[in-house]
Amino acid sequence: MLGSARRCLLPKQRTFLGVGHFRGLWQSQRCSHGASSHEGNHLFNAQAAPTYKDAYERSILDPEQFWAEEAEKISWMKPWSRVLDHTNPPFTKWFVGGETNACYNAVDRHVADGHGQRAALIHDSPVTSTQRSITYAELQQQVSKLAAALSSYGVKKGDNVLIYMPMIPEAVVAMLAVVRLGAVHSLVFGGFAARELSVRIRHAEPKVIISASCGVEPTRLIRYKPLLDQAITMSGIEPKRCIIYQRPGLPEVVTMKPDRDVSWDEAMDSDRSHDCVPVEANQAMYILYTSGTTGDPKGIQRPTGGHLVALSWVMKNIYAMKSGEKWWAASDLGWVVGHSFICYGPLLAGLTTVVYEGKPVGTPDAGQFFRVIQDHGVQGFSTAPTALRAIRREDPELELGRKYDTSSLRFVFLAGEHCDYETRYWAENKIKVPVLDHWWQTETGHPITSTCVGLGHSLSPPRDASGVPVPGYNVKVLNADKVEAERGTLGRIVIKLPLPPGTMSTLYRADDRFSSIYFNDYPGFYDSMDAGIMDADGQLYVMSRDDDVINVAGHRLSTSALEEALLEHSCISEAAVVGVPDEMKGELPLGLYVTTKANTKPEEEINKEAVQLVRELVGPVAAFRLICGVEALPKTRSGKIARKSIADLARGKSVVIPPTIEDPSVYVGIKKALQQLGYALNVADPE
Ligand code: COA
Ligand code: AMP
Repeated sequence: MLGSARRCLLPKQRTFLGVGHFRGLWQSQRCSHGASSHEGNHLFNAQAAPTYKDAYERSILDPEQFWAEEAEKISWMKPWSRVLDHTNPPFTKWFVGGETNACYNAVDRHVADGHGQRAALIHDSPVTSTQRSITYAELQQQVSKLAAALSSYGVKKGDNVLIYMPMIPEAVVAMLAVVRLGAVHSLVFGGFAARELSVRIRHAEPKVIISASCGVEPTRLIRYKPLLDQAITMSGIEPKRCIIYQRPGLPEVVTMKPDRDVSWDEAMDSDRSHDCVPVEANQAMYILYTSGTTGDPKGIQRPTGGHLVALSWVMKNIYAMKSGEKWWAASDLGWVVGHSFICYGPLLAGLTTVVYEGKPVGTPDAGQFFRVIQDHGVQGFSTAPTALRAIRREDPELELGRKYDTSSLRFVFLAGEHCDYETRYWAENKIKVPVLDHWWQTETGHPITSTCVGLGHSLSPPRDASGVPVPGYNVKVLNADKVEAERGTLGRIVIKLPLPPGTMSTLYRADDRFSSIYFNDYPGFYDSMDAGIMDADGQLYVMSRDDDVINVAGHRLSTSALEEALLEHSCISEAAVVGVPDEMKGELPLGLYVTTKANTKPEEEINKEAVQLVRELVGPVAAFRLICGVEALPKTRSGKIARKSIADLARGKSVVIPPTIEDPSVYVGIKKALQQLGYALNVADPE
């Protein structure tokens, strides 16, 4: 049995040889947070809690020993033969030859340890006025049944299963059932349009798709099944089966396609069960599509063993959560936060995880987050800064929130986007617990920098800091010459290889792109595409992305994908989309376009159609509404659109026209267009 294999499988013990402000600064290129010299190493001096310092040093100086010890804390069916294989960078492997199963570690193990009656999930759904609790034993039973059904439809180890579901427990059951079989899931967020879904279906070629009748947004039902049918047709890929969960109590009734669609109830209607299938540690556990660099599908592939080890480490050492406690990550399962910290992380740690189907405001009011914390005794909570900004806007004095007893809460963690200090300060004062920022990415699957509560860090990190490097991440900030920047100065944030366990193993079906996107420009390092500053104490200040990614309400979007959608309008010949600041969502996409020579349509009409087009092709989640026609876009002599200068101008930064721009006079029209949309109001003309 798996559980009994724990602790005894560590390869021969080896002797451990221990040794012993923010965005505005972007302009000044210098940081006031201790611009001191450093010795070129990463071992932080001040403010480093002894346990953190020890863990960090061990993780960097002897990563194999460090992670082997951590890996002992999960269950393995077969021991690894080699902890780290970094002979073929960047294709690093951890726990080579070891066999494990994600579902076993997240569910069965806790039942085997006698915790079957503990709540594993609490579904809290203000949009349907329902709450539901599922124990670990019930979860095991449901997952095992669904795994058996999937297996009967032909799903086996290594096959892809696509999941397109709202925030309901069945989505978690589906994820776990897939990995129980050693298969690979790919979740698609409900706010994407049918075409985005079809691109993912075409790329992943899932054997089975699991979906639901509908999702519930504050103002409307999202009819998943017609979107799914449309996407399947567009993709040209017909899955063997679609399992559809008919949501009880909601009016949307699905039309099933004979021979292909089966209802969830039918799939679950048997006494069948299926055991956990062991997989080699480096086998993919899931693919999660994300944005960046081009609009092409970019499927982050997550290895199984390393991910389990890293998440189990994080729950204890960053969040300081203990088995049996209550945890809530207010995000969506379709994002990486949902994968790591609604589903796998908390379940691995034996916590009760809240699955929230609602918004911070409007479902029905800005007090809901506090109501959920009270109702379920939430001790650890993670959310996006946008959510706090939305609550602050609606209820600045927390008159609604204050009605609830949130004394169970120990801290709030923030991620997904930069958190402005005013919001963090407001939240700390109102909620009366530490509000801690941490920085990470879909690619890494767990935090890169953080305050590590479980390792004794101070809970009052410097303002605007996103924490210090998490053990395993040898974070460097490089200057334009690609050498380490002086502490306190701005540069590209990179991570020295090898990356720790659990980070992506490749891009699905795109090994070459994986190497070229992330590892070519800074040999020996992973390129985060983020720019930032590290201070003398190792605190990192994450400033901005250097690629085409923008962050809208904590949702990662590619401006290239939005441009591609605009270019599908028959009257548009060129388009540029940039991110502009927004008080609540952090950033919003803004599009400028040039019409075709033959165009006779009025601009207003084109704008309306283009907004609708983005909604239909990319999805409502893009929140694309800012659009304006211009005579011409600023282009270099080689034909590249100078998007950064447009974004800078919109942000009120003075722009020096690069000498490579073919026609500098176009900036007159650009500034006018931005001003029409409410940006670039008090900024000098570009020169
Ligand atoms: N399925 C279908 N549509 C969805 C969706 C989903 N799962 N999630 C969002 N949408 C739609 C919304 O209905 C909205 O459509 P609309 O233009 O017709 O109104 C659009 O996508 C934008 O949604 P959203 O980003 O939620 O903005 P909002 O203005 O409706 O709400 C907030 C504002 C602040 C309440 C919301 O952005 C929020 O909760 N933010 C926190 C996000 C978060 O947790 N991010 C973490 C990711 S790690
Ligand atoms: P995603 O892959 O969707 O999690 O988005 C990752 C990107 O979001 C990062 O590369 C950053 O640009 C941004 N991001 C995430 N967390 C933070 C943070 N704490 N501070 C600033 N930016 C962040």
